[in-house]
Amino acid sequence: MNFSVIGLQWGDEGKGKIVDYISGNCAAVVRFNGGSNAGHTVVKDGKKYVFHLLPSGAARGKEMILASGVAVDPIILSEEIGKVSGKILIDSRCSVVTPYDKKLDEIIEEKRGSLALGTTRRGIGPSYAMRALRLEPRVCDILANDFNFEALATFYDMMHINGNLQEWIEYSRNVLKGIEGDSGARVVELNEKGEEVVFEGSQGSLLDIMHGSYPYVTSSHTLSTYIPLSLGLSKDIIGDTIGVMKCYATRVGSGPFPSEEKGVLAEEIRRIGNEYGATTGRARRIGWLDFVSLKYAVRMNGVKEVAITKVDVLSKIRQLKICRSYSVDGEEISDFFKAIPRLDDAKAELEEMDSLHGYDFSIGMKGALKKLIELIEEELKVSVRLVSYGEERSETFELSR
Ligand code: GDP
Ligand code: IMO
Ligand code: MG
Repeated sequence: MNFSVIGLQWGDEGKGKIVDYISGNCAAVVRFNGGSNAGHTVVKDGKKYVFHLLPSGAARGKEMILASGVAVDPIILSEEIGKVSGKILIDSRCSVVTPYDKKLDEIIEEKRGSLALGTTRRGIGPSYAMRALRLEPRVCDILANDFNFEALATFYDMMHINGNLQEWIEYSRNVLKGIEGDSGARVVELNEKGEEVVFEGSQGSLLDIMHGSYPYVTSSHTLSTYIPLSLGLSKDIIGDTIGVMKCYATRVGSGPFPSEEKGVLAEEIRRIGNEYGATTGRARRIGWLDFVSLKYAVRMNGVKEVAITKVDVLSKIRQLKICRSYSVDGEEISDFFKAIPRLDDAKAELEEMDSLHGYDFSIGMKGALKKLIELIEEELKVSVRLVSYGEERSETFELSR
């Protein structure tokens, strides 16, 4: 049975840790969306691995597959290939992020001024845009050496972005040569042999280009339903979806964040949770567990089981708050969809819970922690399958199904 691992918030939920935890018996781990804007961390025996493009299964030496919905930056890919030992397969239909895309990402951000999205500036938005315009090269185009870059160059010329791509094309060809292929066919082949595959989502559900807090979103789909599309397979391929949620919330970059906490307490959580971006190093904004948006994310992804991360951080904080509704211009809203057009004005109605301060994880799941888990199960109508209380694989409770 395949598994998919999807972020239920604004990214950085701890997907890398959870993928590493559950991928022990699987044959391959597949990235299916986004690009090197992702930063997924796995900590193994005190050593930290951060993956931007390759799936986190890399830390276990698993086969690594990038499906066609991933925007591939050959420069980042090359850096990561040098650090891993497993087999790599990049779908020939993946878009290839060009140096032009990175420049355009920067220029658009500068032009937006105070309304900048706070992108990772990895060229991801422009790459997906150029793909939609049918101007972006795919992996197979780079390898075939007959792609007509003229239309792309003309387009970028209009933005005063130019430069000779010849050297970059040669470089990219060398990186991609010999590792390209059909990601969907490979997954089917593995499944037919009785092998399991894990699909590793990047970003989070609320950053989905269609269903997230647009325009403060990423440029690809981030939901489980993008898996079959990205692989070119039917929906049956997804398997069970495990939603990953932090027991508080974070957001990097701009955009509405109804349960945001600011000031000293936010600083404390940021420091204790080490909430700094794995890709850009930016300080992550901090907020509280927000059931309004989580319910929306659970429904969109068909999540029945969740993994909760970072409960150890709550054990070092004296307060614990949650949110079950927003106040928008005096109106109480508990349906995220209804809040979407007015998210900028949505303010979480916060409720105090019993704090986890001083919780001793050696006693297992009792008291305030048990209460929090029960609340999550009740509010989201899901089973909590994993509770993570540290960066290491071993710092995880697995609840029986
Ligand atoms: P991802 O993008 O969803 O894979 O998450 P990131 O790797 O960007 O950010 C999650 C951070 O939290 C990483 O530094 C992880 O090592 C760390 N982490 C994951 N789970 C836990 C946990 O239960 N407790 C603590 N303290 N850190 C965790
Ligand atoms: P992982 O997979 C958190 C955010 C950026 C910005 C917005 C658009 O590690 O969870 P982009 O560069 O994608 O055009 O930026 O999306 N963003 C992420 N935030 N985690 C991520 O990935 C993110 N990938 C993009 O900060 O607000
Ligand atoms: Mg991350």
